[in-house]
Amino acid sequence: MTLSRRDLLTLAAAVPAFSGLARARLPQASRSSLPYQPAPDDEAAWERIKNEFVIDGLHLNTGTLGACPLPVMDATFQHMRAFERIIGQEGIDMVAFKTELETFIGAWPGSVAILRNTTEAMNNAAAGLDLKAGDEVLSTTHEHIGGRCCWELLAKRRGIVYKTFAPPLDPESDAELVAAWQAAVTPRTKVLSISHVLFSTGMIQPVAELVRWARGRGIVTVIDGAHPPGMLVNNLQALDADFYATSAHKWLLAPQGTGLLIVRPDRIATTWPLIGSGDWAAADIRRFEDVGTSNGSLVVGLRAAVQFQNAIGREAIEARARSLATRLHDALSTIPRVRIYSPKRAAFRSAMVSFRMEGTTGEKLQGYLGAARIRTRRIAEFDYDYLRLSTHMYVLPRDLDRTVELLRRAP
Ligand SMILES: Cc1ncc(COP(=O)(O)O)c(C=O)c1O
Repeated sequence: MTLSRRDLLTLAAAVPAFSGLARARLPQASRSSLPYQPAPDDEAAWERIKNEFVIDGLHLNTGTLGACPLPVMDATFQHMRAFERIIGQEGIDMVAFKTELETFIGAWPGSVAILRNTTEAMNNAAAGLDLKAGDEVLSTTHEHIGGRCCWELLAKRRGIVYKTFAPPLDPESDAELVAAWQAAVTPRTKVLSISHVLFSTGMIQPVAELVRWARGRGIVTVIDGAHPPGMLVNNLQALDADFYATSAHKWLLAPQGTGLLIVRPDRIATTWPLIGSGDWAAADIRRFEDVGTSNGSLVVGLRAAVQFQNAIGREAIEARARSLATRLHDALSTIPRVRIYSPKRAAFRSAMVSFRMEGTTGEKLQGYLGAARIRTRRIAEFDYDYLRLSTHMYVLPRDLDRTVELLRRAP
């Protein structure tokens, strides 16, 4: 008999001795060896942190997938090994872990469902609302397929209307962005589908203000938050969105196939679950989380990822990643052929910088840097043809300087 993750949790909860045993065996991310809250320019500390990764070459594409640090890989592998030894007898103290996770992202107690990724979490929100033909969902012309296709599916199948507008890419103020959203709303708008950080340019949107305004008009907010957790310090309760979808395998550096859906508590019981599982009728967050048997080792890896970031300090990680992006932005802007599409104002810039280069294409640039073992993301969507560079904690200033020098000489 194979026990599902739910069975294990039930077992761990029902048999304290079992749960204690399992807890004792689970590996913890090592806190002592990591520098705590290093300053953004403490290069010795960031070099030490970089040594926690096994990255070959230079990884400037965290926006697609982050690199797992060693403690995360170790925790995942060790759990998988222990699990396979005596099938089903390696429980996870989910109550404790959920509390750690909720604290990490500032979510309401009992509001976080662990899923596979942002795409799945966005689909849960979209399919879970009772939208009718003619109801409008408003979003921008800069949405990733992972935040867009759930609405396109509903448009085709149920006749909802998915509308997009072009947001200002270099806003002077939050008010400018909020006004652009407000101008695109119509009396039929039922949902704002907002990317917290645009995948295309890294621009940060004023989610809290938009949510407040939308709620006052009875409009539901669904946030594609694929990027912020692990990159920006956020408090989801303060943002107060109805739904927040994210991928832990990006900036949070958890194993591939880990994501979260955070549902505002008053929405949980009234939102349809996507999957009819044994818990579909539960009035709590389990209605979204139970998808049958799934891989508990990934959850252990996710916990290790949260512990890894807490051990370094979330504020320090954000400050480092964003200061690297500013360094990159400033250096790129000295190359005459480069046109940057990420915001000029640092407050709107996250840890991704996107640009085009005159006389070449995104595809060629990606190949050129790829030949130097530098991994990047080409934003080919909507013909934008940007090259996007992500600056997470395992990138060093000298790596960026080398990349910029290569770009300066790009054919
Ligand atoms: C803004 C945004 N939304 C959604 C996704 C989809 O993420 P996933 O494939 O983890 O579901 C991405 C991936 O890059 C993204 O950048």
